Amino acid sequence: MTFIIGITDASHGNPIFIFRTFTSENKHNKSMKRIILISATCIAFCALVACGDNNQNSDATSNTATTTTENKAEDDAKGVGKFTSVELTNPLDQNMVTAGKGIYDVKCGSCHRLTDVKLVGPGWKGVTSRRKPEWIMNFSTNVEEMLNKDANAMAMLEECLVRMPNQNLSDDDARNILEFMRSNDGEK
Ligand code: HEC
Repeated sequence: MTFIIGITDASHGNPIFIFRTFTSENKHNKSMKRIILISATCIAFCALVACGDNNQNSDATSNTATTTTENKAEDDAKGVGKFTSVELTNPLDQNMVTAGKGIYDVKCGSCHRLTDVKLVGPGWKGVTSRRKPEWIMNFSTNVEEMLNKDANAMAMLEECLVRMPNQNLSDDDARNILEFMRSNDGEK
């Protein structure tokens, strides 16, 4: 006689099967007791693994993982290039906004709309909330390296399929454009 006992490990959803074969009836009672004992042990073990130490461990691991990811994300979010910290003006510097618009009209407007509509590149609406100021300035001045190394830039390239050409911006140009983007995003 063969018994198949199925237990589902609730937290992982893994079915656990125990197969027992009995050869004679007079062993039945003893075997039943053993099966119950084995099952109970197994359930206890599963419960321990599922809700006990294991969970605490995985919580601890994920906490560390989150912290590391955040630190890494923080660096990643700034992109690849020389701008590691950009000081933002508040309120906006209107001279910089005007200068930025001038550069946009000449060098960027053929590929970037100021709305969220994609032309050759993404529309600039919301770009200052999508990207950190450092990322925008690194991208604008160091586009080749960004497209080769920065995960976010590479993902964008995969969508747009066109490599943005280097626009030969000076640091000041890039900063003025950033100011213009912030103004375009409704900052005052
Ligand atoms: C020939 C078209 C073209 C021109 C001109 C151009 N870009 Fe781009 N830009 C792109 C493309 C395409 C992308 C998306 C990334 C890729 O595929 O290379 C992009 C992406 C960007 C991004 C990231 C946008 C986002 O949503 O994250 C910024 C910032 C940017 N460009 C800045 C500029 C600036 C500043 C200028 C002008 C000085 C400019 N671009 C001129 C094509 C262009």
